[in-house]
Amino acid sequence: MAEQIRNIKGTKDLLPSESRLWLETESIIHNFMSLHGYSLVRTPIFEKTELFSRSIGQETDIVNKEMYTWTDLDGSSLTLRPELTASVVRSYIQNHLGNQSPLQRMYYIDSSFRRERPQKGRQRQFTQFGVEAIGSSTPEQDVEIILIASRIYQMLGIEDLEININSIGSSDSRSKYSEALVDFLRGHEKELSDISQTRLNKNPLRILDSKSEKDIKILEDAPLISDYLNKDDSRNFDQILTLLDDLGITTIKNPKLVRGLDYYNGMTFEILSNNIGAQSALCGGGRYDKLVEYLGGKSTPAVGFAAGLERLILLLKEKENSLISNYADIYIISLDEKAIPYSFSIADKLRNKLGIKVVCETLRRSMKAQLREANKNNSKFTIIVGEDEIKSNKVIIKNMEDGNQINASIDDIENHFGVDYEYK
Ligand code: HAM
Repeated sequence: MAEQIRNIKGTKDLLPSESRLWLETESIIHNFMSLHGYSLVRTPIFEKTELFSRSIGQETDIVNKEMYTWTDLDGSSLTLRPELTASVVRSYIQNHLGNQSPLQRMYYIDSSFRRERPQKGRQRQFTQFGVEAIGSSTPEQDVEIILIASRIYQMLGIEDLEININSIGSSDSRSKYSEALVDFLRGHEKELSDISQTRLNKNPLRILDSKSEKDIKILEDAPLISDYLNKDDSRNFDQILTLLDDLGITTIKNPKLVRGLDYYNGMTFEILSNNIGAQSALCGGGRYDKLVEYLGGKSTPAVGFAAGLERLILLLKEKENSLISNYADIYIISLDEKAIPYSFSIADKLRNKLGIKVVCETLRRSMKAQLREANKNNSKFTIIVGEDEIKSNKVIIKNMEDGNQINASIDDIENHFGVDYEYK
């Protein structure tokens, strides 16, 4: 036998047994976004490397060590996108979307690539769904974004979530804070983890995100960004918190929430779950008012978030009443070869007239095996077709939930299944 070729570490196949849950979840997300007035945007899977290094930041983990980058035949450096915000902003500028409307509300569901150490909820190819609202600087726009993020989980029945929120302020507040933080940390430089010692010179705010026990201990006494926000920053943040409160959205102020990408200013947030192991961040986002200008467009405020779809699916799978669905509402059991054309035409009719999922047996298994298949798949009904049934132009409809059976005429079989597949 030829040697098997396996997939690349950190990537996963979406198998038929899971694809329905994915499709249903994606379809709920599409509907949800459109309910909020957001339109789908799709950008290429690879871009010029500079797009990401300039927007996410040279000294971030993503750009430094996690990007899939290569030199193309013409010598240009290309990268598989590690996230979508930079690509969406590039597209917004390039396609003059700002001229079409003062506010563009966009969303996406697409793959991203980061060369991280794979573990539960962390892959090298993963799917992000996210929204970007480009054009508004108001606190209500921030709130709309957080509202969408929180409601989508709520609607899917995901509980035990924590919304962490912070303001990292405008660049002048941040640089004053950064100085104070560096001053403080210099006093503990030798005790800091190696990575934080390096970050102290290159990207000190990222130290706040350190997972090292030693660092966390030291940071307990570190100055807080909230004490360095200027008046406008503070007022803006207060308005966001008040609006969220009015909407009944509970948040936890976390002054150490800095996020791993450099383009943020002002409000940042993350939604965490305690139920998916170490990779607890379900989604993250915030304001990035300077990015459009930084990438060559007109100065335009923006805010958004992105969420890991794999992490959401992990939670949905753990829920008992998860969205796991069946592949056929009606399974048509053929008792012999003669029944095959009848089962096909009944299936055709039911699909076309009622738009419901119907599958016919094509393995010629025993009736017992076919019933088992229908049960395994949670089919609501089976229709049993055999020689006797054909002769009398009648089939048996079996309700798989209560076991009741009736005889039904083939000619008006569709009348036995109402909109809600009511059993008549
Ligand atoms: P991010 O925090 O880097 O933000 O990623 C957002 C979400 O993507 C994370 O909370 C997580 O659920 C998921 N994620 C990230 N890396 C992985 C991975 N290796 N495997 C599985 N899931 C992962 C951004 O990407 C920003 N673009 C968010 C944003 C949009 N900010 C403003 N607009």
